[in-house]
This record gives sequence, structure tokens and C-alpha cells, in this order.
Amino acid sequence: MALVGFMGAGKSRVARELSRLLGWESLDVDQEVERRTGRSIPVIFRDEGEAAFRLLEAEVTEELLQRDRVIVATGGGWAAAAPGRMESLASDTLSVWLRISPEEAVRRVGSGRGRVRPLLRVADPLAEAQRLLADREPAYSQARLTLDADRFPPRAIARRIRDEILGIPHGD
Ligand code: S3P
Repeated sequence: MALVGFMGAGKSRVARELSRLLGWESLDVDQEVERRTGRSIPVIFRDEGEAAFRLLEAEVTEELLQRDRVIVATGGGWAAAAPGRMESLASDTLSVWLRISPEEAVRRVGSGRGRVRPLLRVADPLAEAQRLLADREPAYSQARLTLDADRFPPRAIARRIRDEILGIPHGD
């Protein structure tokens, strides 16, 4: 299954929680790019630029998505970085959009704690988050399931996705 959504939505944490619940492997694209290149995402952005990062991201994501019984936490830009990304997901791959508001995203990732997001290191991070989200929403919204990451913590989201995968019905 694939998790998509903006920076700060909790994709990596949900992937880890879900991995515990399902016994599937959790795979984080950003981490895998860092492992393979031996460099951090901010360093890749700084030294090679966003376009080079997007190529690496596309390659790694495509490869990870081919595995069975895995949870892939995509990078926040993957779904919209090129046309047809969401359509390229296999029909038996559940896709979930962890939906977060730009305000909450900036609160979570702009605080200086945790991983640095090069795209939000700008004078007005909220305006940039609003712009990026507006641009990306059409792609994210193609996910099969949308869950509210502003309101629900990663564990609750992971349980909801587990139920979806196990075919346990929900009213939403
Ligand atoms: C990006 C999101 C980041 C990382 C990179 C670019 C984006 O991943 O891939 O900084 O374009 O939204 P997270 O969504 O895990 O923060």
C-alpha cells in the first residue's frame, strides 16, 4: 500500500505503526534515497537541485512499490511531481491520502525540530505550503482513501488503514 500527502502529514509514522499492526514491511522513500546516496535530502537539494532529487525519488519509489506486502511512505512531492503518478499505482495497491492543512503542516515541520524540508525553508513557509498544496491536491485526491491527519493521530490512522486492508467495514 502507498501513503501520499503533504510534508508533516505523518506518512513515516503511520507507515511504522501500520507495519506493527499488519506485519508488513515499512519502507520510507526519503530514508531509502538517503541510504542509497549516502547523503541527506537537504544536501541533495543543495548540491544537485530539486530536479535531480525528483529523479532519484521516482526511481526508488517505483522500485519499492513493486514489492508485495509493504507499506510505502512516499515523499510529499512524489504524487504530483510528474503527470500520471497516481494512475501508475497497481490496481491492487491501496493508496491513502493523509490530508493535512497547510497551517498544521507548517506547525509540524517548520518548527526547526525533526527533519529539514528544503522546500519550506523560505521567507513565508505558510504561503509556500498553501501554494504547493493547491498544486498537489488534484493528485493526492486520486488516492482510494482520504484520512484527516489534522484530527487523527498516526495510531488511529494506522488502525483505520489496517481495517480497510482486512476488509472490516467503516461508516465513512
Ligand atoms: C518533499 C517532501 C519531503 C522530501 C523532500 C521534498 C516535498 O518528504 O521528499 O523534502 O516536495 O513535499 P516528506 O513528505 O516525508 O516530508
